[in-house]
Amino acid sequence: MTEIAKKPIKITETILRDAHQSLIATRMSTEQMLPIVEKLDQVGYHSLECWGGATFDASLRFLKEDPWERLRKIKAKAKNTKLQMLFRGQNILGYRPYGDDVVEYFVQKSIANGIDIIRIFDCLNDLRNLETAVKASNKEKGHAQIALSYTLGDAYTLEYWTGMAKKIEEMGADSICIKDMAGLLLPYAATELVTALKETVKIPIQLHTHYTSGVASMTYMKAVEAGVDVIDCAMSPFALGTSQPATEVMVETFKGTPYDTGYDQNLLAEIADYFRPMRDEALESGLLNPKNMGVNIKTLLYQVPGGMLSNLTSQLKEQHAEDKYYEVLEEVPRVRKDLGECPLVTPSSQIVGTQAVFNVLMGERYKMVTKETKAVLSGHYGKTVKPFNPEVQKKCIGDEEIITCRPADLVGNELPSLEAEMAQYKEQDEDVLSYALFPQVAMDFFKYREAQKTKIDATVADTENGAYPV
Ligand code: CO
Repeated sequence: MTEIAKKPIKITETILRDAHQSLIATRMSTEQMLPIVEKLDQVGYHSLECWGGATFDASLRFLKEDPWERLRKIKAKAKNTKLQMLFRGQNILGYRPYGDDVVEYFVQKSIANGIDIIRIFDCLNDLRNLETAVKASNKEKGHAQIALSYTLGDAYTLEYWTGMAKKIEEMGADSICIKDMAGLLLPYAATELVTALKETVKIPIQLHTHYTSGVASMTYMKAVEAGVDVIDCAMSPFALGTSQPATEVMVETFKGTPYDTGYDQNLLAEIADYFRPMRDEALESGLLNPKNMGVNIKTLLYQVPGGMLSNLTSQLKEQHAEDKYYEVLEEVPRVRKDLGECPLVTPSSQIVGTQAVFNVLMGERYKMVTKETKAVLSGHYGKTVKPFNPEVQKKCIGDEEIITCRPADLVGNELPSLEAEMAQYKEQDEDVLSYALFPQVAMDFFKYREAQKTKIDATVADTENGAYPV
């Protein structure tokens, strides 16, 4: 075994993306972010994660903000720190595989608007679904990081992960992320996994986890000792629980050791002071649920990510079937097994979760099958690590054709038809991409934006006419 070089650990700060997505339903607005970006920029972080599927969706849907505008505004204030985004492979920031032209254009525009590092993952770990995004990112001179969607199961051996890592390096990725969305990676398993990956590839390894199961900071410590290069942390007011370990705590932990980050705790304290009232407010309004802040050991028992647990609860609430919660939780791993033992991350987490709810509520498994479950079982999301349950496949899709090619090969180019559908509302090139990902939500936003403009125009006109005292 080779001696591991001890070096300062780098940190990706998640406060502008995953932290508020995990704790306050992605409701942090651009206005709330901007006043602190310059201070965040002074810390010396490896990167500032600020963009992804949920932030994009919530901006348009709930905050009535243009996510592209947010990115440009953050970029203008973060002059030294790399900006990072999360990207769902061929599904981009959406829930279905898109044509290559949309993926390429999205990568191009993300980088043009300020993104430096794109973390790309696939919910089935089918590397074919990452090829287009990685190539596009290389072409635009972005940093392409490929994430392993971490999960547990018979198929997920060290050999499986190192085999993936080797292929990822060969694909032209600049770094690898172990993406542990459910907080399943235990400290000593992290030692083994990071050691094995470091022995396999030369590109840097980053670790992303959640505090949901309560082990995350121990996992980071073991991973750092095993030579991991970067860890994802969140400023303390929005850390722990379903979010990441706290930045200040990890910085202090490694102080005076060869892993010392060198970050200024006083500066971090000022940043924490800025976010703390936001946390208090969220607690008061109920946006921040104290339930999400403790240790949820069920995540280890059922291997279900925190976000998926809250989704299940709200789906059952809508159906007035909250008493079926544990039955559904037990059905989740069974559905996952039927569907080739896939990782549970967007969109597979939603697909498996919703199908598990149907299976329990209908009183018969796969009596009612979602369109997405059928698409998974016919190969339209890609290849799973294990084969599908043939009986379930037969019951759900009958004699429907099963595809084995890269799913996007069947999609074809989509940009021209998308452009045609939304041309009337286009104000910037990027609008077609917002529309591609969230057609209805983007359309509502375009209409809202137009209405706002007419309002402002009217005010200006009135003022010019002397209707208001100046
Ligand atoms: Co995460």
